[in-house]
Amino acid sequence: MKKYFAFYLLLILFFSSSFKVEAQYIAVMGALEQEIDLLLGEMEKQKKIQIGGIDFYKGKINGKKVVVLKAGVGKVNASYSTAVLTQNFGIDALIFTGVAGGLHPESLPGDIIIGDRLFQHDFGKFDQEGFEVTTYRELTGAHQTDLFIPSDSILVFKSKQAAQQVAFNALSGRNPNVFTGLIATGDMFVSSPEKAQWLFGEYGALAAEMEGAAVGHICRTLDIPFVVIRSCSDNANHDARVNFEQFVGPASINSSRLVLSILEDW
Ligand code: ADE
Repeated sequence: MKKYFAFYLLLILFFSSSFKVEAQYIAVMGALEQEIDLLLGEMEKQKKIQIGGIDFYKGKINGKKVVVLKAGVGKVNASYSTAVLTQNFGIDALIFTGVAGGLHPESLPGDIIIGDRLFQHDFGKFDQEGFEVTTYRELTGAHQTDLFIPSDSILVFKSKQAAQQVAFNALSGRNPNVFTGLIATGDMFVSSPEKAQWLFGEYGALAAEMEGAAVGHICRTLDIPFVVIRSCSDNANHDARVNFEQFVGPASINSSRLVLSILEDW
């Protein structure tokens, strides 16, 4: 009897591991509930699985096999969620969707930023000369990475194409602009015109947010194509907190609409 038990156990393990490899998903991640709500509403055959304290929603959106999750706010939550996701699902590609503080002088709430590169603006050294952003080491080796983490160029291209077909909410009295460029990630909600000006002036960053570069860093290490899509909820200035509260919902919808369009064209 014991012999058969071991045999069946091996059989189950073999099949469960091969299912894992076969099932390839497009992962869609947001930090907040509002950032994934629309996508969950569009999901067919939805199935919820909880792993490591995270709710994963598997199903189909626009006919594509997806897993959607809320990562939580900040780089630690984003890294943890990406690690649990990638260790438990076969992931073909990852799209991060959500809101950000717009840094470009012409950006307004509702505008879209497609992140073609990301960096951690709060990672660096601090001495008598002040703070300096520095490169960091690869997860798997001793090599210094570049300061900027590139998104997958094909996904960036697909995002730009898809954006042309989306009817975005006009939150600021004009049709939203679609920018492509650098996103600055840090463990802080920026509501300082000086910090916003530093990020734009020094680095050319178009948006400040709190998760993208962390997710990107892990995806690069694991060779998973990724892109970060953001819609501006605020301008990272003195009004940022109030604007965020007002626009987090409708800006999240703009970002989600772009994700839906990307999935449609996939
Ligand atoms: N997400 C939305 N607005 C933000 C801001 N101003 N700073 C950081 N993350 C944000």
